[in-house]
Amino acid sequence: MSRPSVYLETFGCQMNELDSELVAGQLHALGYRFVDEPEGAQVILYNTCSVREHAEQKVWSRLGELAIRKQDDPALVVGVLGCLAERDGVALVKRMPVVDVLCGPGELDKLPSLLDNAYRTRQSLLSDRATATDADRRSASQVALQGNSSRRSATLAAAQDSLEMLDLSRATSPLDTMDEDHPSAGAVRKRSAYVRITRGCNKFCTYCVVPFTRGAEVHRPPEHIIDECKKLADAGVIEITLLGQTVNHYRFEHGAAVTIGGVVQPQKGRSYAGGHRRDPFAGSSVTTFADLLSRIHEEVASIERLRFVTSYPRDFGDDVLEVIRDHPRVCRYLHVPAQSGSDRVLKLMNRGYTVAEYLEFVDRARGFLHEPEKGRPLSISGDIIVGFPTETEADFEATIGLIERVRYKNCFIFKYSPRPGTTAFDKLDDDVPDAIKRRWNNTALDVQSRISDELSRESIGRTLDVFVEGLSRMEEKKRERPAKACGGGVSLTIGGKVIHSHADEDDEDCGCSAPEAGEPSAATTQLSGRTDGDHIVFFDVPSDRRAEELIGSIVPVRIERVQRLSLFGRLSGQR
Ligand code: 5AD
Ligand code: SF4
Repeated sequence: MSRPSVYLETFGCQMNELDSELVAGQLHALGYRFVDEPEGAQVILYNTCSVREHAEQKVWSRLGELAIRKQDDPALVVGVLGCLAERDGVALVKRMPVVDVLCGPGELDKLPSLLDNAYRTRQSLLSDRATATDADRRSASQVALQGNSSRRSATLAAAQDSLEMLDLSRATSPLDTMDEDHPSAGAVRKRSAYVRITRGCNKFCTYCVVPFTRGAEVHRPPEHIIDECKKLADAGVIEITLLGQTVNHYRFEHGAAVTIGGVVQPQKGRSYAGGHRRDPFAGSSVTTFADLLSRIHEEVASIERLRFVTSYPRDFGDDVLEVIRDHPRVCRYLHVPAQSGSDRVLKLMNRGYTVAEYLEFVDRARGFLHEPEKGRPLSISGDIIVGFPTETEADFEATIGLIERVRYKNCFIFKYSPRPGTTAFDKLDDDVPDAIKRRWNNTALDVQSRISDELSRESIGRTLDVFVEGLSRMEEKKRERPAKACGGGVSLTIGGKVIHSHADEDDEDCGCSAPEAGEPSAATTQLSGRTDGDHIVFFDVPSDRRAEELIGSIVPVRIERVQRLSLFGRLSGQR
């Protein structure tokens, strides 16, 4: 049986984007063909997020549409992957019987067999459709239930960490990373990649589902991480973003490492509290986050930019800041959510630090890393939740005070969204009316926009190194590429194909993503890219250069004007 065509759409965070990439790479290697529009696809997969209700709603509405489509197209296979599948399990299938496959983030290695099973079942059901009974239909839907229950038993029984195998199986040949179907963007190798260093989270912030959907913190062996970076670099990648929910809490104790079948296993977060100025065991039997950063920097010299997200404020030792300072290819960009500027609210959130401690970290980080006179300023971005249960005007004012004091490059502002299964959901009333949440959200966004604009203006007249990511969205629109079915998001090249992906931010809650102002002129091609500090830069391709040769490289751009987070400039002669 030939493999079906697949449409894969990703919601939520970078971790989900990476999961989608790995899953797509596996399916691609098995012969599945990826398409970039859902119409006509034989398999539709949604890699979901349940961090906020808004992201979840989008998935429910997509599934509602598919239920209608499936009446005319009974062979269609629908899979829900990721956090929503993990959190709701069987209840999700009961609510949405259109779903054939469920696969939580901890069982993605099993997706190929689940999908194969579901597809075959659907096909055989279709071949004797006239005689299909209710029992047949029930058995087809049981494929989904199997997916969920097999995960639970398999995970418990697993001697070997099979998710590690998923990361290790990554397809990195240059051909695999080419976008054959989209020559305009795809004539260029994939130059930027995510590498997971830690899975899960042990912090249990009271509002957050992640410790429940992604499980306990697990650190990947440093050798695996470095090998993956080397493979990516050999395939042409020049920018790597290390991923972890609390990425700077990474720590691998070699003395306690377990090896199965010659493969060192990932390690559960051990009794290390974090928060140390310096890890007393660094350099001996422990690979700390600082050690890991400096090893990647030294051992994978062709990586021109090394970043990491998301950081936890309490876990930044001076050792990490020194490594960033002393290793020029590590970006001076930190995403370190504060979540609130009120000690009372931080305590209710179980964040584990006070405002004073957070500010001490910000000042210390700037002391080590903010060197604008050397052309190396430090960019800090953050996340804030407004409208947490019991939050008062005074608490909110304190949060505004924190935003003003830190002067984030950008800050994602989220309205509190009660998440089933979390402590806050169980113990605290969602008592801040939505109208107040909305007002606070808008006020915080206005303050942050002003600060972003002021900080962006400091770049005018400077020449910045820009990693060119591709055509700007306006340029794509100008070229009248077909409109995307979801009305937002970006396309990501995976296993030689395009999958669809949404930004982490809820559209309505985050006004800080850069607007793409500045219509490109008809005669030129507008490209977009990012600075080391994660500013978005737009510039036109000069008449003597080609877009294809610039995309995927780092070029100097002289900034001429700004708009909030967007910088507009001109390709410059010197770097
Ligand atoms: N409600 C609102 N925002 C949330 N976040 C996480 N959980 C919730 C929630 N229940 C935000 C936090 C986190 C970001 C990824 O999402 O700010 O840093
Ligand atoms: Fe969620 Fe807190 Fe862990 Fe971040 S640190 S993933 S907010 S529990």
